[in-house]
Amino acid sequence: MKGALITFEGIDACGKSTQASLLVRALEARGVPVVHTREPGGTELGREIRRLVLYSQRAEIPAVAEALLMAADRADHVERVVLPALRRGQVVVSERFADSTEAYQGYGGQVPLEVIRCLNAIATRGLEPTVTFLLDLDPEEAARRRGGPADRLEARDRTYHQRVRQGYLEIQRRSPQRVVLVDASAPAEEVHRAIVRELERREILPGQGGEGP
Ligand code: TMP
Repeated sequence: MKGALITFEGIDACGKSTQASLLVRALEARGVPVVHTREPGGTELGREIRRLVLYSQRAEIPAVAEALLMAADRADHVERVVLPALRRGQVVVSERFADSTEAYQGYGGQVPLEVIRCLNAIATRGLEPTVTFLLDLDPEEAARRRGGPADRLEARDRTYHQRVRQGYLEIQRRSPQRVVLVDASAPAEEVHRAIVRELERREILPGQGGEGP
């Protein structure tokens, strides 16, 4: 089993954390060594950046500054967590990665996409996910699902979240091999089974003994 980077993407409250956790459990159950992580906040520095960007009481952060903070988080995360795990042959499951900056700060915040791509290329050192699951959900439905107070990004208006969703769909259309579109309005167990099937098809997840033909 060689290393692979599996990323989950989508708007807030689309079910990323639930699906990432279910997948990590499925991988572990099949004996695959796995690291579960996320952006922003997969490292110590990242957790500070996460607090700053999501919960800072300061005035609105310009989208380009937000993109730079996310890029700093990503650079640290790739260097300290993702690359070392891949080198050890582990599977990395990350809640969010470079596509988030393109969708949120690029399409949502309207920072030019070439600027975002340049930041992502520096932060990732050219590393691309092996496969990305885009959990697509209507922002209205996501807002209904969300419990508790909204953070700074969740509190942005409906048109921002619509742009983020459309941005994600555009990313998927551009990279249909890497990015798998998943209907996140289905029940969590159903979504999970679809993800497992796709990973088995790609031979990233070994089949469960005795189940297959
Ligand atoms: P979450 O990980 O709990 O979904 O929250 C992270 C928030 O940060 C979410 O609103 C999306 C946002 N975000 C960006 O805006 N750009 C990024 O590059 C990343 C990784 C996250």
